[in-house]
Amino acid sequence: ARDTATATVRADQPGATYDKRIFTQFAEHLGNGIYGGLWVGNDKRIPNTRGFRNDVVGALKDLGVPVIRWPGGCFADEYHWREGIGPKNKRPVKINTHWGGVTEPNTVGTHEFMDVTEQVGAEVYISGNVGNGTPQEMAEWVEYMTSPAGTLADERAKNGRKTPWKLPYFGIGNELWGCGGNMKAEYAADVTRRYATFIKAPAGTRIQKIASGANVDDYHWTEVMMREAGDKVDALSLHYYTTPGGWPPKASAIDFDETAWAETLAGAWKIDELISKHSAIMDKYDPQKRVYLAVDEWGTWYGQDPGTHPGFLRQQNSLRDALVAAIHLNVFAKHADRVKMSAIAQMVNVLQAMILTDGPKMVLTPTYHVFKMYKPYIDATVLPIELKSPWYNNEQWTMPAVSASAVRDKAGVVHVGLANADPNKAITVTTTLAGLNASGVSGQVLTAPTINALNTFDQPNNLVPAAFNGAQLSGNTLTVTLPAKSVVMLDLR
Ligand code: AHR
Repeated sequence: ARDTATATVRADQPGATYDKRIFTQFAEHLGNGIYGGLWVGNDKRIPNTRGFRNDVVGALKDLGVPVIRWPGGCFADEYHWREGIGPKNKRPVKINTHWGGVTEPNTVGTHEFMDVTEQVGAEVYISGNVGNGTPQEMAEWVEYMTSPAGTLADERAKNGRKTPWKLPYFGIGNELWGCGGNMKAEYAADVTRRYATFIKAPAGTRIQKIASGANVDDYHWTEVMMREAGDKVDALSLHYYTTPGGWPPKASAIDFDETAWAETLAGAWKIDELISKHSAIMDKYDPQKRVYLAVDEWGTWYGQDPGTHPGFLRQQNSLRDALVAAIHLNVFAKHADRVKMSAIAQMVNVLQAMILTDGPKMVLTPTYHVFKMYKPYIDATVLPIELKSPWYNNEQWTMPAVSASAVRDKAGVVHVGLANADPNKAITVTTTLAGLNASGVSGQVLTAPTINALNTFDQPNNLVPAAFNGAQLSGNTLTVTLPAKSVVMLDLR
């Protein structure tokens, strides 16, 4: 079966930059997100550099990860940075009360995290502790990381790092409406103003302050934060998870039918409405768009994989997740004037992960491959796209079958990202390229015979991008036939 759609890529009306920070990754002390997934210490079975596994770091480097957010999440609001510095054998062993009640050895602390971000080539986004930490503790952490001189800088040097680190992004707590302190919006706004006061960058440097934003559709939160604290911060976050089957998450990551597929992808599409509505509130208080929206937690959240530790949020990743990722990345292009940062949750072994590990084994997920396909979007210019898509529906779930975005990179190459959510029909998209004279088109496709296709440790290349030859160029008309249930990335030169 086949359907048709039409589109116009407005290369003659270039828009905002598709900010590299939209590809931010999130690494929390949760399950095997850090321990096992990134950090293996002295484990001789797993090649590593100063304790961080080379396979995972290498895969993240290939992805061009621009920023990593750490140490949480919920973990951040009870993290005390002093417990993670100095000799490792003297660091206190704590209980990770949020995530499985397991012990947290504090082996990975500030120095180690900074090391792994340098190995990956990423910038750091630290989430501070507002929940049960003081403004003084937060200020001292910032000083410890960034100051060129003084007692804290001396202590940092004694612990192995003389030169101050760069700290471009600092989060004023996480989910202050929930695990960060169960605050009301009005109180959280005042707390944000207070803590923001004490986050001070040394002369000649800048730290962007990111306020803890709304959960899903809590527009009151955005209203109050922007009204009361908008002038004290650089960004406001938004958290939105795709949770088929509702909350608490229980749906299987891989054992699902077409209805669950449709529900999940309809859930992914909701990000468009959420950003539109939160942005409209931000526009009221910040028409210049100085404060950006950081969608710094998004992605699928299913029930944990059978047999895995409760509280570790370990889930497999399938073609469905690839579609979820592509829909989000396309929607972010539409809102690129306001959305300057996003972070999928989470980088390794947790929720909609890029990478899964098991001891020495590693596998790249379908989501990883989508991020790799979209890598040319990093700091490219968004080209608005007008799209008329057929609907895809199943039971009560209805959505546009096609999701699309386009950018022009710094070398002048235009990239068009497309996803076809319909698992039963190919769709031919007839696209007008307004203001673009391209002479050739090439591309990649990610698809599989079944909706729940996945990569495993035994079959790591089951679902990987393949060369795509379903696009033809004739003058300024591009005709693309998207296979059913696929993600396609085209390059027009
Ligand atoms: O990503 C898992 C958790 O989800 C984070 O710790 C928290 O911020 C959110 O509720």
